[in-house]
Amino acid sequence: QIVHLEDYRPTDFVLERVDLTFELDPTETKVEARMIFHRREGVSPSAPLVLDGDELKMTGLLLDQEELPAALYEATDDTLTIRGLPETAPFEITVTTVLSPETNTKLMGLYRTSDVYCTQCEAEGFRRITYFPDRPDVLAVYTVNIIADKATAPLLLSNGNYLGGADMGDGRHFASWFDPHPKPSYLFALVAGDLGVVEDTFTTVSGREVALRIYVEHGKEPRAAYAMDALKRSMKWDEEAFGREYDLDIFMIVAVSDFNMGAMENKGLNIFNDKYVLADPETATDADYANIEAIIAHEYFHNWTGNRITCRDWFQLCLKEGLTVYRDHEFSADMRSRTVKRIAEVRHLKSEQFPEDAGPLAHPVRPTKYREINNFYTTTVYEKGSEVTRMIATILGRDLFKKGMDLYFERHDGQAVTIEDFVACFEAASGRDLTQFSLWYHQAGTPLVTASGSYDADKQTYTLSLEQTIPPTPGQSAKKPMHIPLRLGLLLQDGSEAIPTAISGADVTADVVHLTERKQTVTFSGIPSRPVPSFNRDFSAPINLHVEQSAEDRALIARHEVDLFARWQALNTMALDNLVKAAAEARSAQPVTCDGALVDGLLAAAAEEELEPAFRSQVLSLPSEADIAREIGSDNDPDAIHAGRQAMLAAIAAAGRDTFALLVDKMSLSGPFRPDAESAGRRALRNAALSYLVYADDRPEKAANAFRAANNMTDLSHALTLLAHRFPDTDETVEALAVFKKRFADNALVIDKWFAIQATIPGAATLDRIRTLMSDPLFNASNPNRVRALVGTFAFANATGFNRADGEGYRFLAHQILDIDARNPQLAARILTSMRSWRSLEKVRADHARGALEEIARASNLSADVSDIVDRMLKDE
Ligand code: ARG
Ligand code: ZN
Repeated sequence: QIVHLEDYRPTDFVLERVDLTFELDPTETKVEARMIFHRREGVSPSAPLVLDGDELKMTGLLLDQEELPAALYEATDDTLTIRGLPETAPFEITVTTVLSPETNTKLMGLYRTSDVYCTQCEAEGFRRITYFPDRPDVLAVYTVNIIADKATAPLLLSNGNYLGGADMGDGRHFASWFDPHPKPSYLFALVAGDLGVVEDTFTTVSGREVALRIYVEHGKEPRAAYAMDALKRSMKWDEEAFGREYDLDIFMIVAVSDFNMGAMENKGLNIFNDKYVLADPETATDADYANIEAIIAHEYFHNWTGNRITCRDWFQLCLKEGLTVYRDHEFSADMRSRTVKRIAEVRHLKSEQFPEDAGPLAHPVRPTKYREINNFYTTTVYEKGSEVTRMIATILGRDLFKKGMDLYFERHDGQAVTIEDFVACFEAASGRDLTQFSLWYHQAGTPLVTASGSYDADKQTYTLSLEQTIPPTPGQSAKKPMHIPLRLGLLLQDGSEAIPTAISGADVTADVVHLTERKQTVTFSGIPSRPVPSFNRDFSAPINLHVEQSAEDRALIARHEVDLFARWQALNTMALDNLVKAAAEARSAQPVTCDGALVDGLLAAAAEEELEPAFRSQVLSLPSEADIAREIGSDNDPDAIHAGRQAMLAAIAAAGRDTFALLVDKMSLSGPFRPDAESAGRRALRNAALSYLVYADDRPEKAANAFRAANNMTDLSHALTLLAHRFPDTDETVEALAVFKKRFADNALVIDKWFAIQATIPGAATLDRIRTLMSDPLFNASNPNRVRALVGTFAFANATGFNRADGEGYRFLAHQILDIDARNPQLAARILTSMRSWRSLEKVRADHARGALEEIARASNLSADVSDIVDRMLKDE
């Protein structure tokens, strides 16, 4: 059934306190939940208490410690309804349930992973533990008692502060935890097992000492050092940048190896996919380090944006996620290079969120209806949600944005609120009306801005005609014009920036043009010569932009813009235009042409020593095949896109051989491995240059030598990727794959790289390889990381392999989805979204894709998760 935003109303009963006692057992865990409620004022005295449940076995139900007569309650699959409750007085309900964590393959609620008991309750997992008002606007104070076997579970953890514990004399022991901060059930957590620990402390700005603990499997403690360092930096940064101090005596992180997502911000007890905790030079790439830093920060930042101030209902998910992503982006920008971080964010947004927004799964940042909330943890809610927050900061400016954030923390601490509450704080702080701006939360689809300019030499004016259109999306055919803050520079031929004496036709603050109408003409006066407009500096608005601009004008921006992001953007746009042309040429069997201005621009930027290496490596990394497909938009032929792109890479490689050889030399590092941004940037540039040298070569020796010489995982996995992708069937590749596998066979996270590298080998033959790899003893179909690394990577990131013209890739995926769905619906639904752009394929492939989706839709016993996705994907607009 479908949940609608407009149906929201508060609960009839207020939950005051929760007391939980767990007697842990792999297949028969007993949970006793004591809950104190009272009826809310004005609620009918006959209104029943309705609690949520999911696959529960209830063995006891008491009202104020007395057994409840059967006539007064009804327990169904998903609710427990209790009647005849006191009119005004508080009362206590005690529910006893019996769970089997060992067989909980959905990884929601209480489950076991590598002999550790752990929980995942967001969004609606707590109802798999006990009957409960499982919704984010029910905030209560929890006490948790955990009883478990002392030998197998020496460690007993929950939220808040440790109260005490003792041996029970029968081989068991117990521990009690108390969390003084009222919280919704989705932030509840419990961990019990035998784990190693890394300990540290952090002294907050007001001088309180906080104990920090990161729990990992025994023996892996050294690999948690970087995560601990990132945690301390996050705590400090949140004090400095947002004035937010930590609020408990202890902060814990537990790394587990079976987890449906990245990590979870449970109060005081974050639980992480171990992929985002464990790192050392031998096993982690620079990208892994950066992800760990970002995700540790993200979950920590949730303590204020998510936990202290939470969501009224799940439609408001972006209230905590969009804002917290924005905060972690800002953190990473401060820790590393701001420009390079921004480029990476925009690449990610365009490759993941833009396709979602352009396909059948498009939805507003703040949706108004859902069937399965787990399917709304999307890049739209997270990444576009972050961009919307960033635009508020752009529109208000730094100081007023800060004032609005401070007001938000002050006004809503301890509450469960809405996007409207959030926006109102910025309106109050700035005196600005953000009504039109708020359409960013409500209208789905990526706006398209079309721009054209004309220069009047006599009058020395430059006029820009701007037009915005927002494409129709499911359930939203007509859209209103939005408030688009477009940062703009006008460059003169010598590279300097034109300073207009007057501007008319739009509200402009500093370099931000506020586009608010469907069509708008902006005139800049006092422009001495024809300017070159540089649009959307720093990607100030998440839009598509169509503007006719010559390669020479783009090259001017690439050489002279003060905004470095805009320099990268100019070259990337040039490359994308050329790649679209190359794909068309390849499709009609014409020779692929490569624009000389592009090659010159790329090579000049690559060699420019004033620019940091990480930036230069971003310049050299061409738009992906998926980026090209998105730009083409319809009737896509992935093989032609691939062929065109390969031809361009070869042309650039041939033209730049000397530049690249020099870079490989210059960028090599000596001394011990360091994961800092500077060193990572040098490795990235060196590896980008090495890639071109390998493209320019017909033999695998260079890549094989790089593989042998590598002394860290960044270089090693890059060399293996080059070998496997460019020379898949050579002896060199076969040998390197075998060496890599043997060396890392006992490290599942590294073996995931081995799976992913092979899953992305271009071409139709890869499907058979995937099938073979699935029966490798190192594969494990019930571990989400393994499934994502092999099946997920194949479907999301191997355009030619997955989109085989014969449709076998889609049929393979359909069978995998059904298989996974029987165990883990969330994982199945997530991987199925890899087909979200199926309608933009050429007809033969699109027909095969539709057939595979229909096969899934026809299957019996589909989960709500998968059936929601497949139905939306097949729905005709
Ligand atoms: N709140 C978690 C985060 O930090 C993610 C939880 C995802 N939950 C889900 N049901 N998919 O972003
Ligand atoms: Zn989050």
